Amino acid sequence: MISFYDTSTLPTEEMREAMRTAPLGDDVYGLDPTVNELEALAAETLGKEASVFMTSGTLANLAALLAHVRRGDEVVLERDAHVVYAETGGIAAVAGCMPLLLDGERGVIRRELVEPVLRRANVHYPPTSLIWVENTHNRAGGTITRPEVMEGLRELADRQRLRLHVDGARVFNAAVALGVPARELVAHADSVSFSLSKGLSAPIGSLLAGTTDFVARARQARKMLGGGMRQAGVVAAAGIVALRSGIHRLADDHARAHDVAHELSAIPGLAIDPNDVETNMVFVDTSGTGIPAAAVVQRLRTDYDIRASATHPYSVRFVTHRQIGKAEVTALVGALTEIAGVPQHSSSHP
Ligand SMILES: Cc1ncc(COP(=O)(O)O)c(C=O)c1O
Repeated sequence: MISFYDTSTLPTEEMREAMRTAPLGDDVYGLDPTVNELEALAAETLGKEASVFMTSGTLANLAALLAHVRRGDEVVLERDAHVVYAETGGIAAVAGCMPLLLDGERGVIRRELVEPVLRRANVHYPPTSLIWVENTHNRAGGTITRPEVMEGLRELADRQRLRLHVDGARVFNAAVALGVPARELVAHADSVSFSLSKGLSAPIGSLLAGTTDFVARARQARKMLGGGMRQAGVVAAAGIVALRSGIHRLADDHARAHDVAHELSAIPGLAIDPNDVETNMVFVDTSGTGIPAAAVVQRLRTDYDIRASATHPYSVRFVTHRQIGKAEVTALVGALTEIAGVPQHSSSHP
């Protein structure tokens, strides 16, 4: 199977060895030395006071919301933010927040987009308390929110007494693509989360970082949500390897994503502008073939054992990662050339 999801990355041998030999303890009591090391390393890497280990990005997002806002508070987000689009509505069902959704510019919400929608405090309105940035933005195509945009949002947040959070599941992809340390990219944020289990290749886990007080509240929220783990150092050990040795190599994934975009742009019927590829995601428009994205994804899976996702009716997403090399790209190009060239049966049309 060839998987164009960065969540399908497998741990390296070094990670497996680190997991086998990690010193362990009961992390709910703060007694797992490996988790403590990972949390300190993550906080240091992101330039924040503290961090807490989470089982997933979804848990990190929920804990961040619970630590930042009260039930009924309004959170300003980009319309396609993962936390609203693909986390089973936990933002409303669990955190009790009122999402205020904005159309971003390729996923990016600048101060100039946010400021006009903010309302004065009024008995009729929910209190707005948080601006939520996704960097890189998944459904917008792995797009980057730049430090100057963060600076503008910080200025607005300070002026309006709001907090600023970054869902940075792939924030290291953004940092590597820009050639800046991740801590610079999130310096203006009150808090930030990132995933170990995507391009960084660890099997499980996310970190949520911020001030010591914020992290203490998030740790309590994690416990409430059932995310307190005991000898979690077994998985945290892989995360330490990921942070120490996995960040710089994300540049390879970005180069590979450009290769994919160039190759696919040459296939008649498929549209992709390689200049739109900012990190490790390639979104291909299939409308020129008349074949809906879901049908393309289905054929890739059944006929070629290649996994990708249909993100919009005529858009297929391919994400590059450590297990995508030249051979996998060649296989994808061959498969899509055949699929795009085959006349469609009427059942394939929407
Ligand atoms: C931007 C973003 N945030 C959060 C998540 C959730 O991460 P997890 O799958 O670990 O719950 C994802 C997953 O793809 C994501 O892309």
